[in-house]
Amino acid sequence: MGTYQHPISSAVEVRPRKVDFHFPDDLPKYWFNDNPYITHFLNALSAVFPEGERFFIETVRHYQDQITDPALAKEIRGFIGQEAHHGNQHELFNELQEKHGLPLGRISTYVKNRLAGTRTLLNPEQRLAITIALEHFTAILAHQVLADPAFTRGAPESVQNLFLWHAIEETEHKAVAFDVFRAIGGSDKVRRIAMARTTFFFLTHIFAFQLVLLWKDGLPIRPLKFLESLNFLVGKPGLFRRIARDYVAYYRKDFHPWQQDNRDLIANWKQRFAGVASAVLA
Ligand SMILES: [Fe+2]
Ligand SMILES: [Fe+2]
Repeated sequence: MGTYQHPISSAVEVRPRKVDFHFPDDLPKYWFNDNPYITHFLNALSAVFPEGERFFIETVRHYQDQITDPALAKEIRGFIGQEAHHGNQHELFNELQEKHGLPLGRISTYVKNRLAGTRTLLNPEQRLAITIALEHFTAILAHQVLADPAFTRGAPESVQNLFLWHAIEETEHKAVAFDVFRAIGGSDKVRRIAMARTTFFFLTHIFAFQLVLLWKDGLPIRPLKFLESLNFLVGKPGLFRRIARDYVAYYRKDFHPWQQDNRDLIANWKQRFAGVASAVLA
């Protein structure tokens, strides 16, 4: 198998960290700034992470034996460890939200079944292409989460730490599945088509899950909070507005995740956690 690695890929260590965030048992239902809309948007993301990440692991693992480059093989092991931990921690968090009668577990099961369905419909290359498309989404969302505190400061400290830790590790391993795809000779056309399709499915599902959560929550009507949530997503700070350019970059023929060099955000992680979460281990 050929080897393909961006120079920065090999400069970033992908190492899983064991964490325990000590989520409080009495996490408020609207844990993000008392805002039901932003909370349920972030709950929807958290609900899809565990099964999504298991899918990422499965699709990368399929090619693990074919990767002969030792550096990439090591990164794959780090990637698998990181994603497995993310899934576990988000499940703990999701269970707390279930206590408020929110169906995060049912959403997770639905996602699991949908992703399992791709085994019969798509070949391993196409499935890995879905993984690298979603990894790009998580990487560009993670970049914003790390770059602007506005995306996390509305949450309790333990939940901020969950999202920041996840964002840091997503940044560290953002090119691993991509480099595997290149190493196995994955087609650029397959990569780009997969992104277009995955974008549609990812966005429609996240917003549908957000609606389901709001519906199960009795459709709270809070006009000012609703405006705040629009700003959060598309206004100021504007999570989706901000990722637009990074998203489009994926369609370039020579695209590589490390063309956006944000190693400085990773380098700062220890300082950001210093004194905040002693439970976050190096
Ligand atoms: Fe992850
Ligand atoms: Fe990831």
